[in-house]
Amino acid sequence: QTEEDSKMYKRYAEIVYSLPLVDSWGTKLAMYKGFWLLHEILPGIMAFHDHFKGRRTDIILTAIPKAGTTWTKALAFAILTREVNHPSSPTHPLLGFNPHSCVTTLEYLYMGRENLMPDADVLKESPRLFATHMPFSLLPKSIVESRAKIINVSRERKSTFVSNWKFFNDIWSENVPKNLDLEKCVELFASGISYCGPEWVHRAEYTNALSTNSNLLLLSYEEMMEKPVENVKKMADFMGCRFTDDEVKLGIVDEIVKLCSFDNLKKQQVNKIGRSYSKMNNKHFFRKGEVNDWANHLTPEMVINLDKAGQGTN
Ligand code: A3P
Repeated sequence: QTEEDSKMYKRYAEIVYSLPLVDSWGTKLAMYKGFWLLHEILPGIMAFHDHFKGRRTDIILTAIPKAGTTWTKALAFAILTREVNHPSSPTHPLLGFNPHSCVTTLEYLYMGRENLMPDADVLKESPRLFATHMPFSLLPKSIVESRAKIINVSRERKSTFVSNWKFFNDIWSENVPKNLDLEKCVELFASGISYCGPEWVHRAEYTNALSTNSNLLLLSYEEMMEKPVENVKKMADFMGCRFTDDEVKLGIVDEIVKLCSFDNLKKQQVNKIGRSYSKMNNKHFFRKGEVNDWANHLTPEMVINLDKAGQGTN
């Protein structure tokens, strides 16, 4: 079995070797089935795609990077586990662990392995809560066919862009200051070259999938910011764990919103100095948490360039 697995990973590595590659955003992105993906985790993406066994009861959170993955993970985890983890408890897991440690991103689970996970099946009891940055077309067939519940969060493109630009600058600047040129990054993003981009194709795939998938919920970062309580209720309804009238009266929804708020999560020690995936410093997941911060960074030309990106391609 292990030998089979290592052969399989070798095969994936060979495929990756043959893909178009660009050095950008301080890393290497490879074009795979229409999307620019992190070169170093592509074997993990392929293994996830080919081997993950979705269940009808799974809840899969999806978002293009920097559209609100961390927040949605925190909210979904708090909603789903509220019977065992009271949202106002001083020992709530989200106060001691980063949301990425509470909800696994599936492609990272399969990444960098010599042998395949025994199958994510063994990891948890149903309902399982997972996340992925993959576009709809790269979700494992078993997720779609099992009719697992899929939640997608999208964000205004210019905010996603600025958040990406800041994030990559921050993570590459931990040891030596690095400055990813803003203008160059706008050009790249607007030509579709960004982590899991083209951003507009990623978005369109989920939007279009809605017409054939009743088990898909589309959320937006901006609407979640504007009406958090309504959106948390919407998430719980969709996830199959609707809040009872008593819970609402007791303020459980408001407590979840407060627990998962940007200010509350950012100030936790684990999110100031802790590390999660690949030793990533958790503080990079909490930058500003605002809706219109892009206006502080982009020139009018950049705004036009980003707004018109992808026009006529969908
Ligand atoms: P900014 O860079 O605009 O601040 P992701 O989680 O997909 O990586 O997205 C990161 C973005 O979500 C960052 O945006 C980050 O600050 C913001 N974010 C993280 N936690 C949040 C929360 N609890 N509420 C609102 N925004 C949050």
